[in-house]
Amino acid sequence: MSGSQAAYAAVDLSVKLGTLELAYPTLMGSGCYGSGEEFAPFVDPAKIGGVVLKSVTQRPRLGNRAPRLVATPSGMLNAIGLQNPGIDWYLEHDLAERVPRPWKTIGSVAGFSVDEYAYVTQRLAARPEIDAIELNVSCPNVAAEGETFACDPKLTGRVVRLVRDTTEKTLIVKLSPNVTDIAAVAREAEDAGADALAVINTVRGMAIDVGTWRPRLGNVTGGLSGPAIRPIAVLAVYEVARAVKIPIVGQGGIETVTDALEFFLAGATAISIGTANFIDPRIPERIVEGLRAYLDQRGLLSIGQIVGQANCGFAGARRCEGREG
Ligand SMILES: Cc1cc2nc3c(=O)[nH]c(=O)nc-3n(C[C@H](O)[C@H](O)[C@H](O)COP(=O)(O)O)c2cc1C
Repeated sequence: MSGSQAAYAAVDLSVKLGTLELAYPTLMGSGCYGSGEEFAPFVDPAKIGGVVLKSVTQRPRLGNRAPRLVATPSGMLNAIGLQNPGIDWYLEHDLAERVPRPWKTIGSVAGFSVDEYAYVTQRLAARPEIDAIELNVSCPNVAAEGETFACDPKLTGRVVRLVRDTTEKTLIVKLSPNVTDIAAVAREAEDAGADALAVINTVRGMAIDVGTWRPRLGNVTGGLSGPAIRPIAVLAVYEVARAVKIPIVGQGGIETVTDALEFFLAGATAISIGTANFIDPRIPERIVEGLRAYLDQRGLLSIGQIVGQANCGFAGARRCEGREG
């Protein structure tokens, strides 16, 4: 091994989210990677940092009516409707029948009441196959006229506080971009005991078929993902990073190493790759190798050295909504 090869191998890409240790700073986004089994034949499983499983609820859900996916320029609209078999079946079958893999497994919990989040988390987190929990708080609260948990800082705080008492495993709270002040929600989640924040979930969107005059999604509205939302996501990470001390898992439209680097520089400790996996399952591996090469070329030894290092100067330091145009 030459000197430069040795240095290359020595680049440290490992990160920690709470007590969760990842060999690589790359998670596969919830709902975009199944449990990882379908992808395992096409990738090097040892190079996948972690897989966030599809969100699970207390009771089974059939999901929304079709169509559930619409391709858009540089992105995808989805309205799956949290289809899942419910926690009982999920634990007995989906989780129990999984092949052991070298990646970390993060269970994702969704719910329609504060109690449901706590109940599902308690049951899921008790399983040894689960290394950490991600809370998908982009769900409507049936007790408050369907207001989305993630859109109300206090409601987010209530969920996180209750869930926090149910597990000592790393708790990642996934924030929604569909808010006016994402930093306020982030602060509540941190105060309530979150170990890390996932930033961001999908952006609300809609598409209409001009032939039929009908919405192109069965659910009428959906969530936009993919490169179209990347600048929104990078800004959200930047704003959240300045508001909290806990680590951030940046996500939204990451397809290349350059995309990933933007998130680290904006303040993300780790990243998550979702929609890109539908295009090419080898994208996460290429990003890992690209990160290694980027750090090595700059004589840097660890990914942590670039986190939050975007040099935004005066323009970045001010809050000036509306002045950009
Ligand atoms: C088809 C699809 C299903 C998704 N399902 C979930 C889900 O069950 N729970 C969740 O928290 N996020 C879900 N997401 C959001 C992704 O995990 C991710 O946060 C978002 O798509 C932004 O990242 P991306 O642009 O890399 O996909 C889903 C996204 C897509 C495209």
